[in-house]
Amino acid sequence: MADVQRGAPRQMTPQEKQRLDAMKKSWQRQKAISAQLKQIKVRLGVYSGKGGVGKTTVTVNLAANLASRGYKVGLLDADIDCPNVPKLLGVPERPAYINGRILPSVCFGFQVVSMAFFQEHEDEAIIWRGPMIHNAINQFLEVTDWGELDFLLIDLPPGTSDAPLTVMQLISPDGFVVVATPQELAKLDAKRSINMIKKMNIRVMGVVENFSGDMFGAGAGEELSEELGIPFLGRFQLRQDYRDTSKPAVLASNAIRQEYDYAVANLLPLVEDLLKGKEQD
Ligand SMILES: Nc1ncnc2c1ncn2[C@@H]1O[C@H](COP(=O)(O)OP(=O)(O)O)[C@@H](O)[C@H]1O
Ligand SMILES: [Mg+2]
Repeated sequence: MADVQRGAPRQMTPQEKQRLDAMKKSWQRQKAISAQLKQIKVRLGVYSGKGGVGKTTVTVNLAANLASRGYKVGLLDADIDCPNVPKLLGVPERPAYINGRILPSVCFGFQVVSMAFFQEHEDEAIIWRGPMIHNAINQFLEVTDWGELDFLLIDLPPGTSDAPLTVMQLISPDGFVVVATPQELAKLDAKRSINMIKKMNIRVMGVVENFSGDMFGAGAGEELSEELGIPFLGRFQLRQDYRDTSKPAVLASNAIRQEYDYAVANLLPLVEDLLKGKEQD
């Protein structure tokens, strides 16, 4: 039988080599990210259809409440256009950035990383385009050393545009807490956002109503919960105590702490349930 003549392996063209290197880098990055995320038991996004409804406030106070119960909690401020988490925590120290790794700031018993820490000026507007959001979030996920966490809470960009979608895809939260306000009109935004989450096959843990009280009324959160068949976790009244932004309001006001205790008591069994589902996967 005639020998099949084997030629010497063909040299890769520079373009092919570049492509291969890029693929290797992206694969290594994905591996690093999934190693980081494996150390986190539950990733919970906090989300709303609109800005200004109290999403950041709710995220910060949920984090403080969970931390006060002894859970290990991290908060990732992924609202890239308005990274306001540090503003609601007094002025926490910036995270340490050592050898290309981010060690989150620690305040009020939980860890925090925010895009705002990496802005030169806090009033600087960053115009994020799709690939930039992708890179920035990926980098945060890859190089932040959270250590082991029970909860990673994520403050997401509002709305149904590219920004929240990109963040959701990259972080793939296990579930969402949706923040709604009492007004009828805002219900429509909330419905839209809940439907988007459902479309992405991510679980809606429940809805909370913020700004309830004489001024704006109350009840839209429960109506939403009934109409869409999702749990109602609780309501947070409109209160002056929120003006003090030196610490999370749950640590400054007993009334607010009780409201959050109630919502978190409703949330925890749902998280247990979610964890059971994750184990079975
Ligand atoms: N229950 C509340 N009562 C009074 N003020 C609140 C309440 N929740 C939030 N706020 C205030 O409303 C403003 C917007 O809240 P924020 O959490 O930044 O909204 P978002 O993140 O949805 O844009 C902030 O000044 C915050 O202190
Ligand atoms: Mg916000």
